[in-house]
Amino acid sequence: MHRLTDETEQLARQVLELVLARERQDPWPLGGAATPEELAERVGQTITPGGLGGPEALRRWVEGLGPATVAADHPRYLAFIPHAPTVASEIFDLLISASGIYAGSWLEAAGAVFAENQALRWLADLAGFPPEAGGAFVPGGTLGNLSALHAARHAALTRRGGERPARWQLAASAEAHSSIAQAARVLDVDLIDVPVDANHRLTGANVRAALEASQVDRLFAVVASAGATNLGVIDDLPGLASVCRERNLWLHVDGAYGLAGLAAPSKRAAFAGVEQANSFIVDPHKWLFAPYDCCALVFRDPAQARAAHSQSAAYLDAINERNEWNPADYAVQLSRRARGLPFWFSLAVHGTDAYAEAIETTLAVTQQAADEIRARPYLDILVEPELTVLVFRRHGWTGADYDAWSARLIGSGTAFVVPTRFQGEPAARIVILNPRTTLADVKTVLDSMA
Ligand SMILES: Cc1ncc(COP(=O)(O)O)c(C=O)c1O
Repeated sequence: MHRLTDETEQLARQVLELVLARERQDPWPLGGAATPEELAERVGQTITPGGLGGPEALRRWVEGLGPATVAADHPRYLAFIPHAPTVASEIFDLLISASGIYAGSWLEAAGAVFAENQALRWLADLAGFPPEAGGAFVPGGTLGNLSALHAARHAALTRRGGERPARWQLAASAEAHSSIAQAARVLDVDLIDVPVDANHRLTGANVRAALEASQVDRLFAVVASAGATNLGVIDDLPGLASVCRERNLWLHVDGAYGLAGLAAPSKRAAFAGVEQANSFIVDPHKWLFAPYDCCALVFRDPAQARAAHSQSAAYLDAINERNEWNPADYAVQLSRRARGLPFWFSLAVHGTDAYAEAIETTLAVTQQAADEIRARPYLDILVEPELTVLVFRRHGWTGADYDAWSARLIGSGTAFVVPTRFQGEPAARIVILNPRTTLADVKTVLDSMA
């Protein structure tokens, strides 16, 4: 089963040719959904005692299952948070998958971990973190946030000499990503919902007011969003950093989507204050052009993360006694693929200037798209775009109209857009982070709302 035979070599060539065909066809069709019944009809039972054989299993994927997936890297995929991996990152991901690398420890993956750490270092430098900062790549923002907050609580517990309050508390705004509430549930801590200001931002002043009204000694961390998912807003990072410093609280910055903007010189100032955080995350599978799934988790003081996350077991002594940089020590994970390497390879191939340019391109297209929305009498922009999220309203539309519009565009393979809610009311939302998305793509979507 494991040896390369004529058949498996042939299969490898077929797979590579499919990959290249997808890269050549620009854009690849948007794809779509299917019901379980439709899929069963298309491919039948695929797991059999004797196996289907490579060509037949591949055929069922290519003809039956693959088309029932949406191309999140399509230039008119503008919903949720789009995806735009470079060819270099995708091709290198294939190589990593075929390289048998266990990237949990330095002992087993020194070269891979070294490269991942250079990529993390670039991000830490952009954020103004100190030289000793570091962390690991984890599957996504959800796990990155959870891992950061577990380290934060562990640090608070250590500071308190092991004495636990009846309930721990975590502060964030309602604009924080749903993974923060999820982390609070997993950690079994109470989430304080701090009100935002008129610009939808969590501010230091509002956290200070909330602290004065509550029991300060239970709070262990404040979560700031640097590019909140729904509206793209950056919280008051300097104000939050200052209140966290005063109260000895851990500041975690969730920049899963937005912190990539640090790479764009025109946006860097908007993130001032991030350099004072205790930890941050940013997902290369979002606005840093890497394949799923990849989140960079960076700690100002990695020793605090290690104290919280390191696993010990007799069979792991051989690793732990070496005192090397083991990515497994910095998050809720042990076995891991070298998921930061496709991002590293793409950065190494293209250079950081190309990253800056690509991100600036998406910022510029977003501003042009905002002007286009303002110029259309049937649309109202609801939030001035700080990054690349556009939230706007079509006069006279109800929730059902937005749903029908979304279904129409997806159904015709034109664009992938879904509505959102703004202040409780339905609205349109598009996110531009694919450098191949043009103003013409956005106009196609806006025309469909006329
Ligand atoms: C700000 C923010 N945080 C966290 C997440 C969760 O990231 P993931 O989907 O990679 O788990 C997202 C996802 O969109 C996000 O936008």
